[in-house]
Amino acid sequence: MRTHYNGDLRIENVGENVVLCGWVAKKRHLGGLIFVDLRDRSGIIQIVCKPDNENYQILDNVRNEYVLKVEGKVLERESKNKNIPTGDVEVEALKVEVLSEAEQTPLIIADETDALEDLRMKYRYLDLRRPVMQKNLILRHNITKSVRNYFDSLGFVDVETPVFGKSTPEGARDYLVPSRVHPGKFYALPQSPQLYKQLLMVAGFDKYYQIAKCFRDEDLRADRQMEFTQIDVEMSFVDEEDIYKVIEGLLSKVLKDVKGVEVKTPFIRVPYEEALDRFGCDKPDMRFEMELVNITDLVKDVDFAVFQNAIANKGLVKGLNAKGAASKYSRKEIDRLTEAVKKYKAKGLMWLKKENDVISGSIIKFLPENVINSISEKMNFENGDLLLLIADTKDVTNAALAYLRNTLGKELNLIDPNKYCFLWVNNWPSFEWSEEENRYIAAHHPFTSPKDEWKDKLLTEPQNCYSKCYDIVLNGFELGSGSIRIHEQKVQDLMFKAIGLTEEEIKVKFGYFVDALKFGTPPHGGIALGLDRLAMLLTNSPSLRDIIAFPKSANAICPMSEAPTEVSDFQLNELKISIKK
Ligand code: AMO
Repeated sequence: MRTHYNGDLRIENVGENVVLCGWVAKKRHLGGLIFVDLRDRSGIIQIVCKPDNENYQILDNVRNEYVLKVEGKVLERESKNKNIPTGDVEVEALKVEVLSEAEQTPLIIADETDALEDLRMKYRYLDLRRPVMQKNLILRHNITKSVRNYFDSLGFVDVETPVFGKSTPEGARDYLVPSRVHPGKFYALPQSPQLYKQLLMVAGFDKYYQIAKCFRDEDLRADRQMEFTQIDVEMSFVDEEDIYKVIEGLLSKVLKDVKGVEVKTPFIRVPYEEALDRFGCDKPDMRFEMELVNITDLVKDVDFAVFQNAIANKGLVKGLNAKGAASKYSRKEIDRLTEAVKKYKAKGLMWLKKENDVISGSIIKFLPENVINSISEKMNFENGDLLLLIADTKDVTNAALAYLRNTLGKELNLIDPNKYCFLWVNNWPSFEWSEEENRYIAAHHPFTSPKDEWKDKLLTEPQNCYSKCYDIVLNGFELGSGSIRIHEQKVQDLMFKAIGLTEEEIKVKFGYFVDALKFGTPPHGGIALGLDRLAMLLTNSPSLRDIIAFPKSANAICPMSEAPTEVSDFQLNELKISIKK
């Protein structure tokens, strides 16, 4: 139907006859001429039509978003537009055909939009017509292309695993699908292909990858969708170093292919406990410094209830130094931060400022001079600086300061949005204690191998066990997570028991998997990277909803199709399901 994409025309095309198709982005009259910006996926070209043209009337009647076919001649523009790649040329319309009319659209088709998210989601096909959204999805396509080429070049095999599986709730809630053929029984949609990929290693596939759809019934956030996509990887006869190497190779290739950015390898590695200590969280943004400083020891003898209560509860006193920020944070601003840290259960926020060699602040009257001096030295407290301190339980102190570090990083413009800082966080504990369930749960998942020295202490010293688990972090987000797996049946058995499963439960939930481990299982390990999160970060998007074509809204609905919906009694009857009112 057409000879060119609109956005591809350049000065070299002057004099050519072309046939173009696209949407009317803008129409204006000037000195008797009609100008139309015709948009397609590749960009915009200016169409010009003279009053004596037989198609003048047709063009005069078109409105925004009409779909046109235009035959014409490429001309050099008199007044060039340096802001668009086709700005040196225009196309004189010789023949115009309206392929489709358009009603007034409920949102403006432009990069900048003030349309509310609900409206964008309801008319998602119009939202996706905006050039910025098309760029995002094309970038996502470029990521998957690069990923596939990389794994193929290393001999990985792409194997699809089932979407209808068995429910083994551990981690998030499962999405369940009722079986019509077996009334009362349910399939579960996979939270990840974890067990299948391990079985592919038992089967001898050696190197597997898949760009896999995963489903989790959990509360949605900007970086969490109920259905999302993993770049899922598993390899046999590997240790942690092999996985680091393959994934560093992958991510540096993707960054190069998609963004033209060189990233340095090997990536930095920080053990889990050290990450908490230095940054207060397990996914620190490494694009800026502002590390946390533990001053518990320095204030342990200070007669101040806030410190003493925290220390008595085995808590911590920690802080950060916002360099040069003293004048930027008034009391009102600090009150705002104090309110914000309450979300992290912090009871308060203490601060000190140093200006013209004078130290002021909310806790100055409680601090003896020698303590102020030692804090100043340890925290590198200089004129112009603002110290923010929290004294609370270890978890609350770390969470509140991690929040403050990220917030101040943004507010003080310490973050370069074009920088990509990867980090491995490794050496995780095997277990977390669940207050809710009153038992240990697997910190990653129960197929993660403990470090060799902890293999036979899973039942006796769960609180001390560390695992061969690693997370890859990018710019403050958990991009991926993985581990070397347990390949010995007896260790797997111990692991299941350590998280409180009985023999019977192990058999019912994981019998087929435990069986498979009996028949010659290679040592193996792998990882899964969130494709959506990677695309979100590489497009600098604030939410996964900007890089998924048809996402769900924050309350887990699709405003366009209105899913989920009720179904007919006939459908329910077939499934032998009745709905409780
Ligand atoms: P995990 O549960 O840590 O590990 O998930 C791996 C990565 O998947 C992405 N991710 C999500 N992205 C968007 N929305 C969600 N709801 C969501 N949940 C997870 C994250 C995360 O880092 N089977 C293991 C991996 C392994 O051990 O190989 C797993 O699924 O980027």
